[in-house]
Amino acid sequence: MTVDGVDPGRLPAHVGVIMDGNGRWAGERGLPRNAGHTAGEAALFDTVEGALELGLRYLTVYAFSTENWKRPPTEVAFLMNFNRDLLLRRADDLDERQVRVRFIGRRGRPVPRRLVEMIERTEAQTARHRRLTLQVAFNYGGRAELVDAARRIAVDAAAGRLDPRKVNTRSLQARLYEPEAPDVDLLIRTSGEQRLSNFLLWEAAYAEIVFTDVLWPDFDRRELFAAVVEFQRRARRFGRV
Ligand code: IPE
Ligand code: IPE
Ligand code: MG
Repeated sequence: MTVDGVDPGRLPAHVGVIMDGNGRWAGERGLPRNAGHTAGEAALFDTVEGALELGLRYLTVYAFSTENWKRPPTEVAFLMNFNRDLLLRRADDLDERQVRVRFIGRRGRPVPRRLVEMIERTEAQTARHRRLTLQVAFNYGGRAELVDAARRIAVDAAAGRLDPRKVNTRSLQARLYEPEAPDVDLLIRTSGEQRLSNFLLWEAAYAEIVFTDVLWPDFDRRELFAAVVEFQRRARRFGRV
């Protein structure tokens, strides 16, 4: 036992986090919604520090969904700039901590070109690291990821590189955004909402889910440790008895 009751021998191979509740956090303080997003940055980086402290290898955070384009244009524009600035501020820090940053999601329009450039720069800067892989799900949707994988399967089959009769779980897994990433063992959602909102549908097929009422800007490494402790208390069966 090291950190707050966490058994270091039974860590989740991959933790996913739905960072929810920024708007409500701001509303409770009489602030505009965007102030909640701003406050979420500290929560994210404390969680990354906690993941490093624990020795987690994969952490995926949901930053912007394919559905979030339906928000008011001012909030969408804010989030585009905010995520770019966040990378500008944090890339060197993540690099020094040996964190590999990867973005999962669709990178084409309407994602601003200057954000995609920053994403590519940060991925290249940190590509050699393996201590922790931080995957940022941005313009990400679980259904979009599966559609993109299905499209690649169809393209490969039409080109004669893949026998359609031999398509199986592995052929689809191999065409996900990050095929090397292990399945999500632990999925955390903040803010009391109990739904997936189109996050990692394939990868989290057998995840243990921990819901917490804490709003995202109030989340920190201690909350992460508590979720891992809860994960380690669960009996996982994977269909067996
Ligand atoms: C999560 O917080 C951040 C994003 C979806 C970008 P919300 O903005 O969804 O906050 P609530 O759910 O409205 O409180
Ligand atoms: C999910 O949160 C997406 C992110 C955290 C980026 P939302 O706040 O968008 O989800 P819904 O709309 O409540 O399902
Ligand atoms: Mg929300």
